[in-house]
Amino acid sequence: MRFLIHGGKKLNGTLTVSGAKNAALPFMAAALLTDKPVTLRRVPAIEDVARMGEIIRGLGAPVTSARDHEYIISAKKFTTTALDATLSPKIRASVLLLGPLLIREGSVTLPYPGGCAIGSRPIDLFINGYRKLGATVEEKESAIQFSAKKLRGARFTFPIVSVTGTEALMLTATRVPGETVLENAAMEPEIIALAEFLNSCGAKITGAGTPMIRIMGVSQLRGGSATMIPDRIEAGAFLALAAATRSDLTIKNCDPSHLAIPLLMLERMGVKVETSKDSLRIRPAERIESKDLTTHEYPGFPTDLQAPFVVLMTQAHGKALIHETIFNGRLFFTEKLVRMGAKITLADPHRAIIEGPTKLRGTTLESPDIRAGLALVIAGLVARGKTTIENIYQIDRGYEKIEERLRAVGADIKRVP
Ligand code: EPZ
Repeated sequence: MRFLIHGGKKLNGTLTVSGAKNAALPFMAAALLTDKPVTLRRVPAIEDVARMGEIIRGLGAPVTSARDHEYIISAKKFTTTALDATLSPKIRASVLLLGPLLIREGSVTLPYPGGCAIGSRPIDLFINGYRKLGATVEEKESAIQFSAKKLRGARFTFPIVSVTGTEALMLTATRVPGETVLENAAMEPEIIALAEFLNSCGAKITGAGTPMIRIMGVSQLRGGSATMIPDRIEAGAFLALAAATRSDLTIKNCDPSHLAIPLLMLERMGVKVETSKDSLRIRPAERIESKDLTTHEYPGFPTDLQAPFVVLMTQAHGKALIHETIFNGRLFFTEKLVRMGAKITLADPHRAIIEGPTKLRGTTLESPDIRAGLALVIAGLVARGKTTIENIYQIDRGYEKIEERLRAVGADIKRVP
């Protein structure tokens, strides 16, 4: 399947933000910590969530979806401790399932993780973290075998900030005897939400949202329920989309407090956004000014919004230096924008200089990963003429029915075989 886009149109109307993908995935893993049912609401209907559900079912835990965007996971027992070798390399977040299996079954086999094209990222932090908690780790040719007779609380300092690394060790430590201290922990809103949910099930976590998280292990966790926080990355991408296409859009069911830095960036670029408790209203700006942009761990500018804002920067007046500090491969998608007419120079894999504004022309593009994939959709909506985007599974991994929602605000985009 591919997306067929005819760009150059202004959009108008309201976009509703889904529940956060990067909350749903760790919450689904956390549900395996208890043998009681866990109900998760406002779960986005996206490919990564479907894959995670399949992997969990493959472990023997039923995952049912009684209502729209609602999942019930009841991990009474497991029938295997080996993650599915075909499914789990498709989604890096499968690494979050290690801890619960290690605690409840004493062993787990993880095929090497995969996921986005932004490098099948290393998992050395997870391996070192589990070792610190007392697990033994054996690296085989196609999988890693973790086993643990007895896990004990420990102090673990992250050499670099890792979101899923923090989530993995935090949720695991809830049922490890003794105190675990995570230093240089990530501070994303999804981590705070995960800690609150785990505490509502009987865990003892303090400090989530700060660089130091303390977890006092408990022997059991109750079941519970949770509603996913809004997807701040989707909301931020919609802001970039609206600004780049000079559209008048309302973005609702979002949490502006999770987007402070991207909103400040837009204001400095001359884009006016009205914020209310759970919605954003963005109107066409007469003139958008280029501004340098550096990605940084939360609460800094999110790396997941770099690609959409790079597309916006091609429509801004002046020169901008984009510095991607988190990932090595996240600026290579800019060569596709150059093919559309953008003026972008890659100084090195972490730094790009964008000169604007430039007119973009439609062309045929391949989506490299979730976030660059949506950025290419934005570029297609900005460009004159026809844009075809292939490999849209990558986009469906992170955005629910994206073409239907964009069509509803006037975009000329269709999903074609
Ligand atoms: C999470 O990925 C998100 N995914 C990513 O979103 C997001 O881009 C990233 O955090 C940064 O914000 C989920 O939450 C499911 P990291 P994660 O560990 O946890 C290096 C999306 O599109 N690293 O914070 O995998 C890593 O290579 C995705 O929604 C190691 O070196 O990212 C990177 O350079 C894309 N060793 C840096 O840390 C490890 O063991 C930060 O990665 C782990 C990570």
